[in-house]
Amino acid sequence: MNKYTAEQNLIEQALDVRKNAYAPYSKFYVGAALLADSGIIYTGANAENSAYPVGICAERSAFAQALSVGERSFQMLAIVGGKINEYPLKNYCSPCGMCRQFISEFCDEDFTIILAKSIDDYKIFRLSELLPYSFHEQ
Ligand code: THU
Repeated sequence: MNKYTAEQNLIEQALDVRKNAYAPYSKFYVGAALLADSGIIYTGANAENSAYPVGICAERSAFAQALSVGERSFQMLAIVGGKINEYPLKNYCSPCGMCRQFISEFCDEDFTIILAKSIDDYKIFRLSELLPYSFHEQ
């Protein structure tokens, strides 16, 4: 039997992939785990670049993994971020504006976003709380 809830499972995966973040410039390591409707979890970590704007956030990296294999519907996203050896993490890592817009392309306003400091310290938001009045052409 699994001792974790679905939310905690996702947080665990986000914490795990955070170890692979490439963040030599900011030293801020982010992990994201995305549960697709298929039941498969896709993960992503931030990957920075010496030309700073070229770097990619953990959230968009996780979405890119899922989208690349044809996934289009999603249930939940967990995000964790902080300095390298922090645990529990000092703060909840909230997605940047660009990631919020990116997420809104594929997820409706009820989409669940979990911001976690640890396996048992987390907050749950709806996408509409983090990105109200989101932009869509139609
Ligand atoms: N970052 C993410 O990966 N996700 C967020 O939600 C916020 C910021 C990354 C971008 C950059 O590599 C580092 O964290 C510091 O901004």
